[in-house]
Order: sequence, then structure tokens, then C-alpha cells
Amino acid sequence: MTTNPATESGDRSHVRPPVESVAQISALLLDTDPTLDPELARTARQAAAEGAVLLRNDGTLPLGIERPVAVFGRVQIDWFAVGYGSGGDVKVPYVWNLLAGLRDAGVRVDEEVAELYTAWAADNRPSYEGTWGQWPHHFPEMLLDPAVVTAAATRAETAVVVIGRAAGEARESVLEPGSFYLTDDERMLLDRVTTAFARTVVILDAGNVMDLSWLGDYGDRIGAVLYAWQGGMEGARAVAAVLAGEIAPSGKLTDTIAHTYADYPSATNFGGADFNVYAEDVFVGYRYFETFAQDRVQFPFGFGLGYASFDVTVVEATTDAADAASARVTVTVDVRNTDAVHSGKETVQVYLAAPDGRLGKPARALAAFAKTGLLAPGETERLTLQFRLADLASYDDSGVTGHRSAFVLEPGEYAILVGTDVRSASLALTVPVDELRVVRQVAEAAAAQTPFARMTLARDDSGAAVVAWEDAPQATVDRRERILSGLPDAIAFTGDQGISLDAVAAGRATLDAFIAQLTPEELALLARGDVTMHSPLGAPGNAGVLGGVSPELRAKGVPPITTTDGPSGLRLSAYASLLPSGTALASTWNPALVRELAALHGQEMLRKGSDVLLSPGMNIHRDPLCGRNFEYFSEDPLVTGRFGAAIVQGVQSAGVSACPKHFAANNQETNRTRNDSRVSERALREIYLRGFELCVAEAQPRTIMTSYNQINGVWAHYHHDLVTTILRGEWGYTGCVITDWWMEDADDPDFPDLTDNAYRVRAQVDVLMPGGVKTADGPQAYADDTILQSLARADGLTIGELQRGARNVLGLALALAPVLADRAGA
Ligand code: BGC
Repeated sequence: MTTNPATESGDRSHVRPPVESVAQISALLLDTDPTLDPELARTARQAAAEGAVLLRNDGTLPLGIERPVAVFGRVQIDWFAVGYGSGGDVKVPYVWNLLAGLRDAGVRVDEEVAELYTAWAADNRPSYEGTWGQWPHHFPEMLLDPAVVTAAATRAETAVVVIGRAAGEARESVLEPGSFYLTDDERMLLDRVTTAFARTVVILDAGNVMDLSWLGDYGDRIGAVLYAWQGGMEGARAVAAVLAGEIAPSGKLTDTIAHTYADYPSATNFGGADFNVYAEDVFVGYRYFETFAQDRVQFPFGFGLGYASFDVTVVEATTDAADAASARVTVTVDVRNTDAVHSGKETVQVYLAAPDGRLGKPARALAAFAKTGLLAPGETERLTLQFRLADLASYDDSGVTGHRSAFVLEPGEYAILVGTDVRSASLALTVPVDELRVVRQVAEAAAAQTPFARMTLARDDSGAAVVAWEDAPQATVDRRERILSGLPDAIAFTGDQGISLDAVAAGRATLDAFIAQLTPEELALLARGDVTMHSPLGAPGNAGVLGGVSPELRAKGVPPITTTDGPSGLRLSAYASLLPSGTALASTWNPALVRELAALHGQEMLRKGSDVLLSPGMNIHRDPLCGRNFEYFSEDPLVTGRFGAAIVQGVQSAGVSACPKHFAANNQETNRTRNDSRVSERALREIYLRGFELCVAEAQPRTIMTSYNQINGVWAHYHHDLVTTILRGEWGYTGCVITDWWMEDADDPDFPDLTDNAYRVRAQVDVLMPGGVKTADGPQAYADDTILQSLARADGLTIGELQRGARNVLGLALALAPVLADRAGA
């Protein structure tokens, strides 16, 4: 029997109607049972608390429950629990707000101020009106009489000011007051509160990094700053627990916070309508700042305070092999809580500083991290961190090292630095590499098709790093030749032999024998979902169904497979849990906790009828304005890969499938279905693909979703190099690849006999989702079947390719067989 924590206490003051709280209801709420798993809620609360990053604290926090606190800002009531769009559209039965959370945590809230805000907020409900993509970035503030603030300061010792922001799918954060910047009203509120109160805490409830340069204007009048991100239904309660000292803060930034927007290396190449040149190349986030612009950093990557302080002592740092290409670096550290009062957790981070070589390297690259358990005052924990130098090898896309299209370790000294953020990490070990080592030779893939200049590293006379520019290497591969040389053999058609997919699942027949029975029409159906979202074949409100989309396929035992969004909860016509957003989860630096939460989420999928969760969102935070950054984890590929893997492992432990997305380089929302990400092959492989690569290796997701955008002139859903050469060929991925929802029709430039769906199947993007063509009257089934037409042409799609795609889809059905059989039997 599960209970809803919101109703457990009988206090529903913090419960907001679900329609209002999520803003973009995509389907009617049909299942009205608001019961949620309390263990999931507890784990979500712990994760939201561990993901909140304490950026400043002069001792103002924790609040302590005996001291009165005056809470300012309407967001204390109208809390932003998640961002907008498919990643936030969850029919959550309750959302804690901060005011209710503080009361629940036993904090003595100044009731006069609380009542003012409560009454005003009741009369001034936030407006979510507007169409898709027009959601508010912020809510207007209540204007406070200065006398109210002064009077509150006579009653309460500490003030808390809450600032809230949201962005989302089709809704970038923008360089305007109310989005990236503070509004004048928020400024005024801060002015008045910090003038009247000796101690002020600022809470940032936002999915994106926003401008924090104003902190400097207030100096020590702002005693504490907590970046809470968006923590889902339990987020505000988690923040309250942190403020009250019930849960020790231990979050760390997964992005750099720069002094100004213009300081970000992507700033001049973001938001283009047709294309964006990834001119900063591999110098993304801290890789840029630590190399070229240390002074432009307000809060460094990896930074976050606790209530306790820790000593981190390197006990031992060693390598185990003479050969650099296989050497494993092991760092053993003792972490001691030196505080006399507070418990806490600390995250140790290991960075690699590679020699410049000919390629030019970022000054730091995160190589490993580990978090302690909760350490009592005086307690010590020993952590062991390991990585291989080869894991951080650089990719030579120009041939400058003499090894084009290879991951290489250039000769020189490799410094291993250990610390608790990127800036403070200090030298623990130096590993010499005497001569260049080729770690992995691959083939050029997905390289640039348009000339552009990319950032590289040079040194001035004093040896200081300076930005230089070079031409990005251009693609040289003959794509037609590559595809033709890799065409799969066909399986001879047998016609119906009475073999059902259940027989394959039971080991009584081979998958190939099953596939041999399928007609081209049936194979073509497996390459498309059931036309529309909210398919009648799946749980109401689903995102789409694939697999057994026709009676003939179902008669052969192919089950309908139901997909739902993700990432922050199940997007269905039923109540579901709203989890902390991706950035909040990654900011815990605690993959084990996130895996545990995802495992509970997988169980919720079983209860609600979801087979494939369209999660995790794994795009890199290239720029702080990207609307969907809240869904994604970090500017760093290792953090992205580790948390992606944790979610996939957790979800899939329930027998269902996760679906990492959006593969790849989907780093902005502006014109997202047409935009071209122009990026060097090196940056792709070291930054934008690397997280996916780690996730595939560690967690074997059963499904992966391509992105809407183009990568070097080719839409991801047509990208043979991306999906067949790299994902399947190099990384050995055998799962099912699906499109993002709908796709852009196009002709294959190298095969005139292939258009749209045939062009896609050739790339091994197996399934078009949700499966129909978008028309003014809504999604319709494709009238002209380009797959079947192409099969009939001399230079068209081959039956072997269509069967290969079917094998990927049916492999997913077989992996899900126990779950689907349980559902069918239920
Ligand atoms: C989003 C995906 C989402 C899909 C289904 C698309 O617009 O980009 O992330 O999973 O819709 O809702």
C-alpha cells in the first residue's frame, strides 16, 4: 500500500493543481489515483537536497529551527519544480513549495510576511497562458512596501529571498531581465531586504545557470547563496531540509558560472537560426576557462560548499603499467571531516592536465570523481579513484600528430591533479609518456563539410596560453563507397512458417528464422511507430508506440512497445512522480543515489504501463541559454556519461528500457529541427559524443533517440556515419535507434533512389517516431511508402537493410519480453 506524502500529514496547503503546476498538459488526466511510491518520493527528496549547490556561506546557514526567518519572493509559493516541454509535462499530484517545506522542516517562518505573500499569490496566480513554447521565464514579483521589510527585520533575524526561473523545450533562456538577468523588481527586493537585514540567504530556483554578477554588488550583505536547480515535486522540501540543516548540502556545480554571459566561449556562436559554428571546439566550459580565462570565472566547475569542512589528503597516487596506453592511474585519498559540529559529504575530483603536444589540450579534463558517505565530525573515509590515461586520449582529426583519425596520447608529462573543484585541484602525480601512443585507430566519420575556423591553443613568449585559430579539417570520406561496402546480406524470404516471436523468446527458434517470414510490408511497418502520440495501442497519454503496430505483426507475436517521456517523470494521462531535473541529479555527484532513484522510477513505469522511458537527456551544456539545459547534466562529458549510465542502469533494472537522447549535438532550441551544428570531428568525439559513448559502454541502453538537428549538414536521423559507423560500428551498439518525434523529409545526396524513410533506414535509425507525417490536420500515416518504393529501385534500399533494422526493433521486443508478457497476462 503506497501513500502520498502530501496527504499523509493532512496538510494540503502546498498542493497546487496539477494543471497549473506543469503548464503544458498534453492529454487529459484519466487516472485520478494520486498515490505515489513514498520510497521514490524520499529518494527524490534526498537527490534534490544533494543536488542543491551552496555557493556561499558565511555561517548564516544552516538556519536552525529556533531562529525566526522572513521569506521574500513569490517563488516561495509559486515554486518552479521543473522546466517546460516534454521533459517537464508530468501530471504530478502535488508539488511542495518552499513556504510549506520550511514549515514542514520546523523552521520558524515570519507569519506576517508569509501571509502577505500567500494572500497576494492567491490573487495573482501565475499565468501559463500561451501556446507551446511561450511559457513564462519568471513570474512578476509582489512589490513590497519598504516599511514591511524594515518591520520584518525587527521580528526575524534572517531573510531568505527566493528567485525563480524556467526555460524549456522550444523556449530558450534569453538575455533579458526575467530570464538570464534579474528584473528591476527583484533588484529592488534584494536592495530592501539586504539593507534591512543583517543576514540574507538567496535561493536560486532555476533550471539554467543565470547571471550572478549582481552578487558582487551586495558584498557580504548576502551571507549565503544556494543554487537549488529544479528538484521536482520534492525539490522545495529538499531545499527547506538543507536550509534547516536537516540534510547537509553537498552539491557541486556541473557547469562553470562565468562573470558575464559574454565570457562564455560559445556566446558569439549560439542561437543562429540556420547553423551554429562550434568555433570553441573542445574548449567547452571549464576546458576553456581554465586554459584561457581563469579570471572570468565567478564559480568554478566542481565547486560547492558544505556545512562541514574537509581535509583531502592524497595517500597514494600511482600508475600500474609502463605502457601509457594501458596505464591505469589510481589515486587513494583520505577525506576527513574537520568540523566540530556538522556532518557532511565531500566529492573528490581528479583532473588530467595533458601536455600541449601538437593538438593543443585544455588545461584540465575531469578524469574521475567519487563522493564520500555522510561523515560525522572528525570522521575519515578513504576513497579510491581510478581511470586510464587512454580514456582521456585526444582525437587527431587533422593528421597533425602523424596519426589521422586516431585517439592518441602525445608525448610529455601528464599531470594528475586532485581536489574538490577544478580550480583548487593540485598536483598529485606526474606520468611521463615518452613517445606518442595510438590508443585507438578509427575511421574518419561525421567530419565538417563546411570550412570554419576553430579555437586552438598557442603559447605567448612567456609561455601563457593564448587563443589561436586554425581551419577545421574537412570531410574526405566517400560516403557512397562506405555505405555500399557495408551493406548487410539479406535473409532468404520463407513466407509464414508459423514461427511466433514468443518462440524466439523461449529459445525455440532463431530471430533470423522469424525475420525470414516477414514480408517487405511488415518489415516496413516495423520501421515506423503507430503514427501518432497517444497511440490507442499504449497507455493513455503515451508518446507513441512501436513494434506490433499492425494486426498481422501482433498475430506473429510482435508486441506493441509503449514509449513515454522523460526525463523528469512519466508523461501520461495519469498521475506520476516528478523527479529532480537532470542538472539537479548530476549536481549530486552521486551516481549511486541517482541509480537508486531511477530503479524506483523503473518500477513506476511497470505500474503505469511505460516500456521505454525517453530519458536521460544527455546533451552537453554548451551554452547557459539552451532551453533544455535543465534536462541535461553538465558541460563535461564524463559527468554526462556517468549520470546517463546511472539512469539507464537504474531504469533498466526493472526490465524496461531507457532511451538516452538526443544523439547528438542538440545544444539549442532555436529552430531546432532545421539547425546545423557545425562542429569538428575532434570536438564531436571528445565532447559531444563522449557522454553517449560512456553510457553505451557502461549501461547498454536498449534504445537511443537521435536528435532533430543536423550535424555537419546531415540530419541526425539520416546520419549513417553517426549511427552506423560510430555508434554501432565503433561502439558495438546493438539496440534500437529511434528518431526524435517526426523528421525532416530529404533526399539522400549520394543515392537518388533513397528519400526520407528509406534514407533513414539505411543509416540504421530504425524507427520513425511517433510514425506518421505531420500535416496541418494532425499526424497522418504515410500515404506513399518510400521504403517500399526504394526497395524496388536498382540503387535503392536493400531488403537486407530493412531486415537489419527489423532485427534491431525485434531485439528490443525480446529484451522487454518478460515485462510485456506480464502486462499481457495482467
Ligand atoms: C522532444 C523529445 C521528446 C519527444 C516526445 C520531442 O519534441 O525533443 O525529447 O521525447 O518530443 O515527446
